Amino acid sequence: MTASTRLGVGTRGLSSRALIHVSTRRKIAIDGPVASGKTSVGRGVSRRLDYRFLDTGLMYRAVAWLALERGVDPGDEESTSRLAEGASMSVSDSEDMGVIVDGVQLGAQLREAPVDRAVSLVARISRVRSALVRLQRDIAREGAIVVVGRDIGTVVLPDADVKLYLEASAEERARRRHLEVHGSEAGPGYESVLRDLERRDALDSGRVDSPLMPASNAIVLQTYGLTVDGVVDEVVRIVEAGQWA
Ligand code: DC
Repeated sequence: MTASTRLGVGTRGLSSRALIHVSTRRKIAIDGPVASGKTSVGRGVSRRLDYRFLDTGLMYRAVAWLALERGVDPGDEESTSRLAEGASMSVSDSEDMGVIVDGVQLGAQLREAPVDRAVSLVARISRVRSALVRLQRDIAREGAIVVVGRDIGTVVLPDADVKLYLEASAEERARRRHLEVHGSEAGPGYESVLRDLERRDALDSGRVDSPLMPASNAIVLQTYGLTVDGVVDEVVRIVEAGQWA
């Protein structure tokens, strides 16, 4: 995989001295299961602290999209690995810009059902993971950043300054997802949202390579009953209090 990144270091409101201090080090790793709120929380924290933001899930989704687009079976390890290793990928941290893979700009497609179904197959393949982890580390090396995913504190950035793991029960996460998709916390689709979420939890946690789990030195945050802003406040408090990993 060849890497290029359009992620820029945020500089708003920082003196040059503060900028040197901030941009040379701070890496915040946020992991958690499906619908734990890590992407919204990570983006919120990056805005509040003026850090860059990287959603690594989008990168796995981009490989799944590429496999489907090229007619490759996403479960075929050899072909999907070759695809991931040969692709060029550039990631943006702005909300709507997504990922450019082999020159194709991807946004909403990455969240559509076919990609949703294929992505956990792709994420189990070790060579795909190695190619993406290399790219994620290259991006993170460029300065202060919030990185969200499943294996950031354990594998991608074991030396992250702050490691957080967001936790909420499957039922709570299913309610949030149902609200997002159908506009209410419960209703006819709730059971299937819950079942899909439990299936994806099992795939993420049961995978041999880099299973989802909190790093031994991660701070585990229970997000039950908290709003996104409430969790962002708590994370910023932890960072500013210097509760480093
Ligand atoms: O966070 P998400 O739903 O966009 O993630 C998409 C898929 O990629 C999901 O199956 C988990 C996987 N993933 C992963 O294995 N490691 C990461 N660092 C990020 C996502």
